[in-house]
Amino acid sequence: MSAEADKLKTDILAAIAAAEDAAALEAVRVGALGKKGTVSALLKTLGGMSAEERQTNGPLFNALRDAVSEAIAEKKTTIDAAALNARLAEETLDMTLPVATDPQFEGRIHPVSQVMEEIAAIFADMGFDVAEGPDIESGFYNFTALNIPEAHPARQMHDTFYLNAEEDGEALLLRTHTSPVQVRTMQNGQADNSGPPFRFIAPGRTYRCDSDQTHTPMFHQVEGLVVDETTHMGHLKYTLEAFLAAFFEVSDISIRFRPSYFPFTEPSMEIDMPCRRDGDRLIVGEGDDWMEIGGSGMVNPHVLRHACIDADKYQGFAFGMGIDRLAMLKYGAPDLRAFFEADLRWLKHYGFLPIDVPGLAGGLSNKSLAGKPGTGQ
Ligand code: DAH
Repeated sequence: MSAEADKLKTDILAAIAAAEDAAALEAVRVGALGKKGTVSALLKTLGGMSAEERQTNGPLFNALRDAVSEAIAEKKTTIDAAALNARLAEETLDMTLPVATDPQFEGRIHPVSQVMEEIAAIFADMGFDVAEGPDIESGFYNFTALNIPEAHPARQMHDTFYLNAEEDGEALLLRTHTSPVQVRTMQNGQADNSGPPFRFIAPGRTYRCDSDQTHTPMFHQVEGLVVDETTHMGHLKYTLEAFLAAFFEVSDISIRFRPSYFPFTEPSMEIDMPCRRDGDRLIVGEGDDWMEIGGSGMVNPHVLRHACIDADKYQGFAFGMGIDRLAMLKYGAPDLRAFFEADLRWLKHYGFLPIDVPGLAGGLSNKSLAGKPGTGQ
């Protein structure tokens, strides 16, 4: 009987040694120690033996079972360790992969929004409010109230987008400039007794049927209006120069007024800013060249009267500038159409991080942080 046990032991230990993985080892275990396993079968034979036989074979068979169990447990440890090592060698963690960016560093503020904020911050510092008006305007506010009557040729100059006529025959339109906010805001001020005097800017979208490298059907303007009893052209010139110096972050700027014509101002002037070219680069704020950046003038008394303001007592100045143009000049984006193409690559390059909020104290364009606009680096 002991010979049988020895042979079984040799076979099983050989099978354990040959088992290459956990499944093979489990098969050996079941074959030996399972209910119908060879070792279990041998143990069962003890029941049919004489007391004497049992006394010799019992310890032998039990020793066989223990030896097999032990050998299996040992082999299992080896197999598990090998499997773990294989997994560790196979699974790699690529430390060079970028960590997912926090959303607040992913999004960008559009240069036009940034510039609008900068403009508002500068004028707020000079005591200006920010006023708003609707994009869809009536002919009255867009033209008539601004001293551009029905048959006036200036109406044709504006390439207006008209909506379908209302039942009363009047066609609303997309405002062609921010000037309609002048009369709207003055009327509101009269109604709630907040003015005159008035001192506000009105930035916003404007629309004209026009499209080429420097014109888009939708663009942005900022209107400015100051109305008080003694407001004069010196105030206008100072205000514009102070604004431009702050906006372009130069110590001072001398602007040039060129005679012009706008129905809503008298006299009317174009605003020219000094500039110079350095190879391909355009440097603004200094130099012998001039570039036009907007229109201005003393508010025509007809406009004040449309807002029911006593034009014998009050007078004022107004100006209007293109915001997109200011953004292009300050941040060096060459093509206006790219501003409105919603190309994420463009926005990533020219846009601004939301945490770089412009302010006069922290720096309007965060020059200290931003070597390149928008990158914050
Ligand atoms: N509204 C004019 C335009 O779009 C710009 C302008 C000129 C606005 C003179 C003004 C102004 O307030 O005084 O061409």
